[in-house]
Amino acid sequence: MSNINYRSVRPLIDSAAPHLFIETYGCQMNVNDSEVVLSILQKAGFTLCQKPEDAALVLINTCAIRDNAEQRILGRLEYYRQQKKRNPHLLVGVLGCMAERLKDKLLENPVVDLVAGPDAYRDLPRLVGILGASGEKQINTLLSHEETYGDISPVRMDPNGVSAFISIMRGCNNVCSYCVVPYTRGAERSRDPESILREARELFEAGYREVVLLGQNVDSYSYGETGFARLLAKVAEISPLLRVRFSTSHPKDMKDEVLLTMAAYPNICKHIHLPVQSGSNAMLEKMRRRHTREWYLERVARIREIMPDCSITTDVIAGFCGETEADFEDTLDLFRQVKFDAAFMFQYSERPGTLAARHYPDDVPPEVKTERLERIIALQNKLSAESNRRDVGRCFEVLAESFSKRSQNDLMGRTSQNKACVFPAAGHHIGEYVTVLVKDSTPATLLCEVVE
Ligand code: SAH
Ligand code: SF4
Ligand code: F3S
Repeated sequence: MSNINYRSVRPLIDSAAPHLFIETYGCQMNVNDSEVVLSILQKAGFTLCQKPEDAALVLINTCAIRDNAEQRILGRLEYYRQQKKRNPHLLVGVLGCMAERLKDKLLENPVVDLVAGPDAYRDLPRLVGILGASGEKQINTLLSHEETYGDISPVRMDPNGVSAFISIMRGCNNVCSYCVVPYTRGAERSRDPESILREARELFEAGYREVVLLGQNVDSYSYGETGFARLLAKVAEISPLLRVRFSTSHPKDMKDEVLLTMAAYPNICKHIHLPVQSGSNAMLEKMRRRHTREWYLERVARIREIMPDCSITTDVIAGFCGETEADFEDTLDLFRQVKFDAAFMFQYSERPGTLAARHYPDDVPPEVKTERLERIIALQNKLSAESNRRDVGRCFEVLAESFSKRSQNDLMGRTSQNKACVFPAAGHHIGEYVTVLVKDSTPATLLCEVVE
């Protein structure tokens, strides 16, 4: 659950303003969407609160990517069913990808009063207004070909004020056979670069020192003459003190032009998240990723040729339809070859309505999926530990973004390569660039001291 810790902004209506609680699940784009929703509802008179018990309206921004993501939301709805017994006036809305996937089926659940899909957030004040006045359940799950929320300034919920997400596009035009996103987020559309630049400039002026440009496939960003490489350069030119990150790159679309742009600007972070999904050509074909293992390895080689210090992270799915032991060995082998710095690893979860669900049986037994997932996690833990160990003895410039989870005496900052560094806070503050020397490492963290 994203724990919303929000610095107070003057409410737009009086202190009797209704209180809103938002909880967010899923990817970074969902986190950013919740900030858009807050902006829209704040203008309509709502005030954010920290605890669901204080809220008149609870909104759950949901994810549908795997079955376990949806099970978690159903657990939250059960929690709110209990809450409603204590407070019958509480209103509960479901937003995001699960809302879009299940539509009015969600309204059959007695706890759900409102359902709004990812392109329907401008309609929330109207929907909530009718719901509040009449008590009648409301739904809007229309998808749009144009909506980018480009003119809306998201209200940031992270209390540190250092790093902010900027969605540069919405939707996805790929049809990876396992994936529900094209159905829940609709067709791909790119946001006007002027509105992206304005938002990034405003964030920098407000003290932010990092922006993360978000899209399901940033390499296919296209608005008039502006492609992704050009957009990256323009954002990087706002200030050398503003770090620029982005996610997600698709191996089939990642171009040298983007790599050369990254290399040309020191403030574009040297990290590429490049999901591979599988190391087997047979699986990649069935997944409709539209590239081969050889193509992927060539892209990795090109990244390292142009930026030897660039980190590469990935996503992988274990146990996709028909995956044999030999296919899975190909994935392990690719991991060993590439030596990823980090990875998000998942078991295949069939999503209703997708190409895979319609055409291929989900035939890898659950225990085999689990066993393969465990093997790839064990391998990646080793690779992550080795990657971090290679940094011991090196110096990095990090951007301090929060206190360390363990101690208020330490700060956490990231290297350009997106590795978390922990170092003594004394004399330094959140939002500052600090040069550190890596003294030791764990698979997840670099333990550092400050270089004066
Ligand atoms: N747009 C990104 C991925 C977004 S979804 C891309 O194309 O790379 C994030 C990750 O969830 C995917 O990379 C994939 O590894 C995983 N994922 C997607 N659908 C899944 C499914 N049905 N089962 C298991 N993992 C899945
Ligand atoms: Fe899903 Fe593929 Fe689009 Fe990524 S590129 S969101 S995996 S369909
Ligand atoms: Fe989940 Fe939707 Fe993101 S399905 S991963 S919240 S795009």
